[in-house]
Amino acid sequence: MKDYIEVDEWKIIEQGFDPANNKISESIFSLGNGRMGQRANFEETYSGESLQGNYIAGVYYPDKTRVGWWKNGYPEYFAKVLNAANWIGIDILIDEEQLDLAKCEIIDFRRELNMKEGYLKRNFAAKTVGGKIVKVETIRFCSMADDEAGAIKYTITAINFDGVFSITPFIDGDVINKDSNYDEKFWDEVKKETWPTGGYLQMRTKKTGFEVATGMEFRIFLDEGSINPNAETLVKEKYLSAKIELKANKDQPVTIIKYAANLSSQNYEAAKLAESLKETLSGISGKGFDNMLAEQAAAWADKWKHNDIIIEGDAAAQQAIRFNIFQLNQTYTGEDDRLNIGPKGFTGEKYGGSTYWDTEAYCVPFYLSTADQKVTRNLLLYRYKQLGKAIENAKLLGFTGGAALYPMVTMDGTECHNEWEITFEEIHRNGAIAYAIFNYVRYTADDAYLTDYGLEVLVAIARFWSQRVNWSDDKKQYVMLGVTGPNEYENNVNNNWYTSKLATWCMQYTMDAAEKVKVADPAKYAALVSKLNFNEAVETARFRDIIEKMYYPYDEQQQVFLQQDGYLDKEQILVKDLPASDRPINQKWSWDRILRSCYIKQADVLQGIYFFEDQYDIDTIRRNFDFYEPRTVHESSLSPCVHAILAAKLGDEERAYQFYLRTSRLDLDDYNNDTEDGCHITSMAGTWMAVVEGFGGMRVRGGKLSFQPFLPAKWKSFSFHIGFRGALINIKVSKDGVQIKNLSGSETSVLIYNKEQLVKANDELLVEV
Ligand code: BGC
Repeated sequence: MKDYIEVDEWKIIEQGFDPANNKISESIFSLGNGRMGQRANFEETYSGESLQGNYIAGVYYPDKTRVGWWKNGYPEYFAKVLNAANWIGIDILIDEEQLDLAKCEIIDFRRELNMKEGYLKRNFAAKTVGGKIVKVETIRFCSMADDEAGAIKYTITAINFDGVFSITPFIDGDVINKDSNYDEKFWDEVKKETWPTGGYLQMRTKKTGFEVATGMEFRIFLDEGSINPNAETLVKEKYLSAKIELKANKDQPVTIIKYAANLSSQNYEAAKLAESLKETLSGISGKGFDNMLAEQAAAWADKWKHNDIIIEGDAAAQQAIRFNIFQLNQTYTGEDDRLNIGPKGFTGEKYGGSTYWDTEAYCVPFYLSTADQKVTRNLLLYRYKQLGKAIENAKLLGFTGGAALYPMVTMDGTECHNEWEITFEEIHRNGAIAYAIFNYVRYTADDAYLTDYGLEVLVAIARFWSQRVNWSDDKKQYVMLGVTGPNEYENNVNNNWYTSKLATWCMQYTMDAAEKVKVADPAKYAALVSKLNFNEAVETARFRDIIEKMYYPYDEQQQVFLQQDGYLDKEQILVKDLPASDRPINQKWSWDRILRSCYIKQADVLQGIYFFEDQYDIDTIRRNFDFYEPRTVHESSLSPCVHAILAAKLGDEERAYQFYLRTSRLDLDDYNNDTEDGCHITSMAGTWMAVVEGFGGMRVRGGKLSFQPFLPAKWKSFSFHIGFRGALINIKVSKDGVQIKNLSGSETSVLIYNKEQLVKANDELLVEV
């Protein structure tokens, strides 16, 4: 745990530079715009500890897995999000001496992420070994208005000397991935070109053949005036630069503005990339840095208008929730249904930038409430488009007749998990994908989605479950053998309650959805039946039989759902009785010991109760919560939010708040000592859920938003924006009560503590408590 980040409601601030924290800050201060992103590396050379990272969404490499014991159905590769060409680089020489903060005496240093307007700023003063003092200010951003563009304004001033600056903006494609199984480099050069004020480099990924053109266009200013210096171009394999020598007059600022763009062959014909890149560069340099920055602020103001959460009375909590929302918006904008949300977003290489069930189970609620519905729809379409591969994947495992098993980890629909031994039986991900369709339709009432896309996915998933169970002659019930639930600290168990519950729910929901489509559009339904070869009578009869006769492990004595068969055979020592020196168990214990223990990595039975809350009375929820939470080590960042929401539901406000705290500043305070690998982007959506669904008690009930809010004791008030079926509302919870503002042009109605409240267009009302 670290606490060097200064608290500010709209900014993330690092004052003073400790090289030991640099990789952590590089993650925290990351920038992104949904299409490209980068760690907060320095523009100038830094020879200290750093993880260089520039990423282009959807551009990956299939690194061969290291598995000695090959089995049918194992993934061929582990996808890696690629560290792409470095476009931020600006080398600085001061009278031939390199500016390198690892070697200079740092007089003053401040790094600041402005979340309100979406840019990163760094100010420092440093003294070189030769005694020259310079002052530097840099501002940079990845444009939200034009997601292929970024810009940097880098100003350097000589403080105690007159001399020469040599300023070298460059594009460097000769980069490595930290995470690479065979230490290969993943890019080949296609071509490059330079001109007096810039250049570009076009690279192609090995095996996947993505081409990315990265270019720069620069301008130099003395004081505020633009000058036209002579640049000396240097090109070498996968690299180009332009060296500019200038007189460094004491106290006279020298500024370089570097405009950059990344264009990918995902969006352009490879042969036309260079031409389009040049157009983009000329467009943004013509627009100018200040105008781009103003556009950036406007784009962020629009985002915040729809999804800010305001917490009064706790600045650290305020900063944290905005940081979570900011990073989620930087990671995914929903513009492109081929893109998804990697657990680390654009902040690091871990988890390969691939798609996990995290998207459907954790991120969907955030985007549903804070963005246009097309954003979530695009997340669903991503899976729809990969249905063919999910069917292929299921076939490889022996399933037939159009059954689909979506991958645990994927880039393009193909399974590509590195820790396959642990996760291959985590078939619950299939259920999360169906649940997300349900969640989307429940939230938006976009029933047409079922007709156009959703039902196809549901039928394929339901088919999978109906084949994955088997009839037990012994139990005279259906059972589900050999699975791994969300709790990865149990592998290959029989009858994981959550998975079985999800499976039968999927079959029921598929039948309900089929019925809906049949009624709404009989012709389309008939066309779907024929396209899917859906033998409705036979297949639904099997679904019904399984739903009716499914076995769910249950403990009569304690009246709790059992995580899996045999769970109570485990030694039941609660987490509170574990010596602190044994934790986290995933670092301190052998895998064998973890698997034999009763400890739960993250919500498992409780994940099911969270999804299907309406099916259980409050006593059932309480008994299960009281049984499982004390056995849960929360060693996945996805865990505390579900517990926060359930604790809130149970009226345990203090515990709900404690769980919330565990995720909200997870990265800012480096709680788990792993922020240097990247931020926990998908669990940030969980933090949002903890506030809105936990403290706000928000649910969708009967086509309306319903709230059961409470105010955490430390806070004066909190308020959040929610978009729902065309309306934008703001809910503010304070000691005075619950204030509802209708920010839209038509009347809306919400339930507050189960009582309907009508709020006129552009009006507000207060429900006193
Ligand atoms: C969790 C998984 C999750 C993955 C990526 C793992 O630690 O156990 O549930 O999908 O991280 O976030």
